[in-house]
Amino acid sequence: MAETFDFVIHGGTVVTTSGPVQTSVAVRSGKVARIGDIAPAAAGRSFDAKGLTVLPGVIDEQVHFREPGPVHKEDLESGTRGAVLGGVTAVFEMPNTDPPTTTASALADKVKRAAGRSWTDFAFYVGASPENADDLKDLEREPACCGIKMFMGSSTGTLLVADDENVARVLASGTRRVTVHSEDDMRLQERNAMVRDGADVSMHAEWRDVETAVRSTKRLLALARKAGRRVHVLHVSTAEEMAILGENKDIATVEVLPQHLTLAAPECYQRLGTLAQMNPPIREARHRDALWRAIDEGIVDCVGSDHAPHTLEEKARPYPRSPSGLTGVQTLLPLLLDHHAAGRLTLARLVDLTSAGPCRIFNVAGKGRIAVGYDGDFTVVDLKAKRTITNSWIASRAGWTAFDGMAVTGWPKATIIRGNVVMCDDELQGAPAGAPVRFQETL
Ligand code: DOR
Repeated sequence: MAETFDFVIHGGTVVTTSGPVQTSVAVRSGKVARIGDIAPAAAGRSFDAKGLTVLPGVIDEQVHFREPGPVHKEDLESGTRGAVLGGVTAVFEMPNTDPPTTTASALADKVKRAAGRSWTDFAFYVGASPENADDLKDLEREPACCGIKMFMGSSTGTLLVADDENVARVLASGTRRVTVHSEDDMRLQERNAMVRDGADVSMHAEWRDVETAVRSTKRLLALARKAGRRVHVLHVSTAEEMAILGENKDIATVEVLPQHLTLAAPECYQRLGTLAQMNPPIREARHRDALWRAIDEGIVDCVGSDHAPHTLEEKARPYPRSPSGLTGVQTLLPLLLDHHAAGRLTLARLVDLTSAGPCRIFNVAGKGRIAVGYDGDFTVVDLKAKRTITNSWIASRAGWTAFDGMAVTGWPKATIIRGNVVMCDDELQGAPAGAPVRFQETL
């Protein structure tokens, strides 16, 4: 009897480990079972991808979904709903919730909340603090933990590890990837007077300047080398840091964001005001150009969204009382596809930055490529579709995007997780059935 499958995707161009191939992919029990010439009738369910491109599922390794805590901005259901509408199949969620994810019970609580409510597969970071620094080696082994997050500069929430002694304690405890918000808190405090009593939002990039980022990243790299610990520097925003990181690739991986790759000061602040306010800030075009160069040169390992929702009402407070952060999980892929259409990014590089890259950094098991035995996660895209990003399309409780009104080329057509279509043609399908992401490390 002929072999049967649960699901087959056929007729499209599949981005395999060997590059784009016109072929079919079959899924059984959630995993890719065969790649090749497969009749649609061999599966209970099939998806016709004619004229479309099938990418490995997009993984967003930096989102803030606000649950538990300020869920009026977002929760795990709304955040992951936005993710699948944007073609994202798995998310790694940040610990600056209320309470922060700094204990095993806080982590277990998030996993419990995600069950039956998360549209995507998911994992959570444990937040580092001076109080839990010595416990991180145990916390990082908890189920559904993707790694550690350390804020060296204060941002949204209360998490902070500012001084070298505590940074060293965090780096000494455990072996998994430590992701870092790298801004020097001492310099931020010293210079806070320049904005404290009110200023134009464009001062945000003056206050949190290049030196603030560079000083912190230099300190981090020196301490990481001493500890022999791998670090992942999040949302790198300066040309100067890229030069330094390029010399430290044996211990440091690098994330950049579509916000920093797409927008530039001063235009973004003039046009968007506090909607462009984020940490680290959006800077002048020379930095944006340097980030693109770092993508071309291979210094950058992945692109995440840093989805950081705040309501329009909160954003309307006068700077600096306006909170920092932009929504992004839903626009991550459309923006990157548009950069691809404009010739700034090859499809192979896009896939590496959004699928294979995050899996290498975090030792994800069974995701990040379309290969037999791997999860049947696919982001199906129409590379030619002409669409406009609008606030009305955004699922986030925050209800806005800094890219409202932007015409783009390239759009997610369908999001498929472990062989189940969860989004097609901008519509959700089925119910939230996300599962914890698995990791190779059982060290
Ligand atoms: O702009 C930011 N917003 N940067 C961060 O580091 C945190 C984030 C948030 O959670 O709002």
